[in-house]
Amino acid sequence: MAPTRSSVLVSLGVLIAGVTKAASDVVQIEQTPNGFLSSPRGWNSYGIQTNPATNPEFQFDQAGVISQCDVLATTTALKDAGYVYCSLDSGWSVGDRGDDFGRIIYNDTIFDIPGLADHLHSQGLLLGVYVVPGAFHADEGKTILGTNVTIGSVCSGDNGLSRCNLDYSQPAVQQWFNSVVDQFATWGVDLIKLDYVTPGSPVNGATLPQDSSGEVIAYHKAIAQSNRQIRLDISWKLDRSQTYFEIWNANADSMRTDQDINNSGGTTFVAWEVLQRAIENYRQYIATVTQYGTTLTIYPDMDNLYVGNEAAITGVTDAQRQTIMTHWLGAGANLLLGSDLTKLDQFGLNLLTNPRALEVAEFTSRYPMLPRNPGTGENGPQQLQAWIAGPDAAGSAVVIIANYGPNQGQGSWETSKSGIQTVNVSLTDLGIAGTYGVVDVWANANFTVDDLGFSVELDEGQSVLYQLNP
Ligand SMILES: *[C@@H]1O[C@H](CO)[C@@H](O)[C@H](O)[C@H]1NC(C)=O
Ligand SMILES: *[C@@H]1O[C@H](CO)[C@@H](O)[C@H](O)[C@H]1NC(C)=O
Ligand SMILES: *[C@@H]1O[C@H](CO)[C@@H](O)[C@H](O)[C@H]1NC(C)=O
Ligand SMILES: *[C@@H]1O[C@H](CO)[C@@H](O)[C@H](O)[C@H]1NC(C)=O
Ligand SMILES: *[C@@H]1O[C@H](CO)[C@@H](O)[C@H](O)[C@H]1NC(C)=O
Repeated sequence: MAPTRSSVLVSLGVLIAGVTKAASDVVQIEQTPNGFLSSPRGWNSYGIQTNPATNPEFQFDQAGVISQCDVLATTTALKDAGYVYCSLDSGWSVGDRGDDFGRIIYNDTIFDIPGLADHLHSQGLLLGVYVVPGAFHADEGKTILGTNVTIGSVCSGDNGLSRCNLDYSQPAVQQWFNSVVDQFATWGVDLIKLDYVTPGSPVNGATLPQDSSGEVIAYHKAIAQSNRQIRLDISWKLDRSQTYFEIWNANADSMRTDQDINNSGGTTFVAWEVLQRAIENYRQYIATVTQYGTTLTIYPDMDNLYVGNEAAITGVTDAQRQTIMTHWLGAGANLLLGSDLTKLDQFGLNLLTNPRALEVAEFTSRYPMLPRNPGTGENGPQQLQAWIAGPDAAGSAVVIIANYGPNQGQGSWETSKSGIQTVNVSLTDLGIAGTYGVVDVWANANFTVDDLGFSVELDEGQSVLYQLNP
């Protein structure tokens, strides 16, 4: 991984700050490589795994996961809203070797993956698993299923994760991916989270090769030849240069735009400072990849959604939880909760299942939001920010206006305005004109807006989510 990466991003941010988007620039996301028209909704285990103090009783095993994911099935509002993925993070598989053919296997002292898949599927839920690049060192003497090729003859080096680096140009290597995914398909896997992909992923203690983009291509091909529809979610903070973005866009269904946002070893899940960074990373991501003229066929993954639990467990205020939900919705991002599903509160349930919010999600799965700075319409980093998704052919749009508060250190804006701020946003700033009926989603109130635009009072961390109809 190039050590200059963060400085490249910073200078890119500055460059983008000067670009004004034309009013006619509407960004759309088309069907993804593995055939999806929206991002996944559900739950991922990592939030609780890395912050066990949020739920000391939770064990990362079959019963523990079922105790969480059954909530998706038994809470009708969640299931009806499409929160159906139960996604296992790191730790479900045997960490140092595969089966007789070097295929990834589950740790059968803690999981029965086909049994878990059956349990989930019988309730209308879906199963996700987590993988990292490479084949196991311990398997180098084994033969890839359906070939006479040993893993050690097509896999070398050490990526620091008990694995060697596969030579993606070898046909037998594709056979290995096919054999892994075919076995996942027979178990009933519906989503694969592929972590540690480079360029992009921080080394994080591993010795990752510079470029494992071939892994993403190989998983995509393996999914395509399996007889199962499986999502591919790639991670983390993937390189946004055009060359690599086009690989992610052509092979994966969603891609991480930031590093992990969870607290680590905390008594709460997240901190506002890191949420500021996550939202800023989405701004950089969407402002960058929309310059390429490439049709978007991938959804952003802003990391797990930490909005389900009360402020004392989540780590941010209710207003900030609402702002998180608003931005994950606006971006069309994965809605995979990292919260403790056994302790959802009413406020969190409403954020997740509010019918108007779900309409917004449907809209932004086609039209992701773009930044439009209040007062200029440019797309740089701002403490007081506006965003627009659409308008679609009918002229409807979604508008978000936010006060992120003073930059706590990981945002890119330079202001530190404390307390309530008036944020004025004209329709010209947003690149639209006319008169619109506005639905204030969270306040459940309606009003009309004309060329004078919006003037909203927002405290630190607050935002509004509006649906606009001409
Ligand atoms: C399976 O999981 C248990 C419990 O976490 C762990 O002690 C054991 O080492 C794991 N086994 C393998 C083969 O990874
Ligand atoms: C593997 O080698 C054996 C013996 O040489 C041969 O009969 C078989 O067809 C080979 N299989 C593949 C898949 O190449
Ligand atoms: C989230 O957890 C991982 C693993 O514990 C850690 O490496 C990462 O730094 C955490 N994220 C934050 C923002 O603390
Ligand atoms: C914002 O708009 C309000 C109402 O139109 C106006 O009174 C106020 O002066 C504006 N504030 C700024 C900072 O432009
Ligand atoms: C707001 O307008 C929508 C139609 O755009 C309507 O369905 C809804 O009932 C209205 N809500 C209120 C609170 O008036």
